Amino acid sequence: MRLLVTGGAGFIGSNFILYWFKNHPEDQVVNFDALTYAGNLENLISIEKNPNYRFVKGDIANVNEVNSAMEGVDAVVHFAAETHVDRSISGPAPFVMSNVLGTQVLLDSARKNNIKRFHHVSTDEVFGQLELDSDEKFNESTCYDPRSPYSASKASSDHLVRAYFHTYNFPVTITNCSNNFGPYQFPEKIIPLAITNVLEEKKIPIYGDGLYVRDWLYVEDHCRGIDLVLSRGKIGETYCLGGMTEDINNLEVAKKIAGLLGKDETVIEFVKDRPGHDRRYAVDFSKAKNELGWEPRHTFEEWLKTTVEWYKTNEAWWKKVKSGEYKKYYEEQYKK
Ligand code: NAD
Ligand code: TYD
Repeated sequence: MRLLVTGGAGFIGSNFILYWFKNHPEDQVVNFDALTYAGNLENLISIEKNPNYRFVKGDIANVNEVNSAMEGVDAVVHFAAETHVDRSISGPAPFVMSNVLGTQVLLDSARKNNIKRFHHVSTDEVFGQLELDSDEKFNESTCYDPRSPYSASKASSDHLVRAYFHTYNFPVTITNCSNNFGPYQFPEKIIPLAITNVLEEKKIPIYGDGLYVRDWLYVEDHCRGIDLVLSRGKIGETYCLGGMTEDINNLEVAKKIAGLLGKDETVIEFVKDRPGHDRRYAVDFSKAKNELGWEPRHTFEEWLKTTVEWYKTNEAWWKKVKSGEYKKYYEEQYKK
């Protein structure tokens, strides 16, 4: 099989390509990525010489670039997106360009090229927020209620993907996954930001009261979920992935990271809250469990420890990432 992976130089996309070659070494993978600030080919050094791997630099919103990458492809796995909520608040336009227009351009090209499967990687953030201390969870029938420009753009892309299924009978599947963590995550997201800040003797910035809850999933579990959807998922269907952590708030996550690095709570600093900050996310993965046999395998405690170790031993990777364009972003985002 020949896969076109969009956004394969990003956090989850690069983990997915590494996972794919480990589990399906006979397949061919074309990594199509614009190499925005979040794309980093260093993540893929271990497989870059594999004859079954090819990198193509291109923008998913560019019809010609997409059309030429689509030739000979059997399935598309679509990760490419602008992904950071805070950046979507300070500048929504690139989120609409890449996440909405880019997805439509890809869908069109995939349809014209008779691609056998288009898998769209989405987020649980399209469902909005849950109340703190409620038992409620998101599932495949939860109504969409996106509240940030990021989640609104991902919601729009989900709707387009479903529209191509209903209108053109185009073979799509969608996964809506909760927050991921693991190696190669860009240190703008809270877990790698907290780890690398402590390693740099800086504070961990916690928004508002810190009592915001995310449903943390180790990235490899997400990759395995997508693999199972590709092999066993039903065309036109959506699967919610996540459900590993039971309501651990950001403050507790920061304390755990500080502890793993031999520090106490004094490394935590409360900073101004994010506008429209979603209070809580939680995912019910029963459908993925019943239909695909998927469930999370990596516990938060153990794999947070592994992730902390990864950042400790890969200082060159994140130091380079943190010294570029990101330095300016950080100064602006966390200015007092
Ligand atoms: P990321 O920001 O680390 O990587 C995004 C990648 O997409 C980068 O390599 C970037 O260069 C590329 N890209 C961006 N715009 C592009 C464009 N116009 N054309 C081509 N390439 C482009 O993102 P991530 O965290 O790996 O997320 C990947 C996907 O998974 C996204 O669609 C995101 O919405 C979804 N998702 C992420 C999480 C999470 O916790 N990170 C959870 C659920 C779903
Ligand atoms: P983030 O990693 O940006 O993912 P998302 O917003 O997509 O869930 O943020 C995770 C949680 O951490 C979210 O509740 C916002 C919070 N947060 C902080 O408290 N401080 C920070 O510096 C960042 C980036 C996030």
